[in-house]
Amino acid sequence: MPQPAIAETVTDLRATVRAWKREGLSVGMVPTMGALHDGHMSLMKLALEKADRCVVSIFVNPTQFAPTEDLDKYPRQLAKDLACLADVGVHLAFTPPAAEMYPAGFASKVSVGGPSAGLETDFRPHFFDGVATVVTKLFLQAAPDLAVFGEKDYQQLCVVRQLCRDLDIPVEIIGAPTVRDAHGLAMSSRNAYLDEAGLAVARQLNKILRGTAAAIAKNGDADGETVRARRTLQQAGFEGVDYVAARDALTLKEWQPGREGRLLAAAWLGKTRLIDNVEIPAEA
Ligand code: PAJ
Repeated sequence: MPQPAIAETVTDLRATVRAWKREGLSVGMVPTMGALHDGHMSLMKLALEKADRCVVSIFVNPTQFAPTEDLDKYPRQLAKDLACLADVGVHLAFTPPAAEMYPAGFASKVSVGGPSAGLETDFRPHFFDGVATVVTKLFLQAAPDLAVFGEKDYQQLCVVRQLCRDLDIPVEIIGAPTVRDAHGLAMSSRNAYLDEAGLAVARQLNKILRGTAAAIAKNGDADGETVRARRTLQQAGFEGVDYVAARDALTLKEWQPGREGRLLAAAWLGKTRLIDNVEIPAEA
């Protein structure tokens, strides 16, 4: 597979995309923070199925990290990431330095309401402003026809949909299913922080969520089952459970029996924070 072209500046990114559009080609985008794995690659494959050209951004976005979080420690492996893009046939990598995205004097932010309330925001209050700001910038810079986001970060996917709807950003948002290892653990760049013992515990997360979602679908008792799930996670070895919550799959408001639902959770293993979510299946 040919190497992707690389743009480090917004000017270069725009020039390439403009040339594609002049040829009548459609453009798909996959925003990432790098440390790419099979989950990211599945998004790229989907973008390449739906559009003629694919641009992947690799940018560890400082505005979505709190000062106490893992911005400095976040895995960076550009050469390996570019090889992944080549494997899948991505056409362009956008790899801006931080000063290209946030030059001195930068003073704006995009803030989305609706689905950003609660869940991640209760524990990372700065997070979705940072995501919405960088995603808005990326969409204005690349002007893609469509963009693919993973269901792995389900609340983020809902927030990005809301952002585009509210601000009339003409980018079709496509959600892609979560890619997991053979034991059900959702692929994540942060899994690299876990040792073997940690991985064994991490692999319980999805299992416990699936069991809980099935129980909620059956008995409708979201409160009782999420309290039970929190206990089960702690017994499995998770040291802290930020939330286990049953929400409406579209609005992320409280789930009501009979509605399409999503069960979302965040829990800690040592210094590593894992998130996952599963569908609450319709009642049998
Ligand atoms: P990052 O964590 O690198 O994830 C980039 C995209 O990959 C997101 O849409 C995420 O949901 C998706 N993804 C991650 N793990 C996945 C998995 N196991 N299966 C399927 N998709 C998966 O999310 C971000 O970066 C950032 O917040 C970003 C949107 C790039 C803004 O900075």
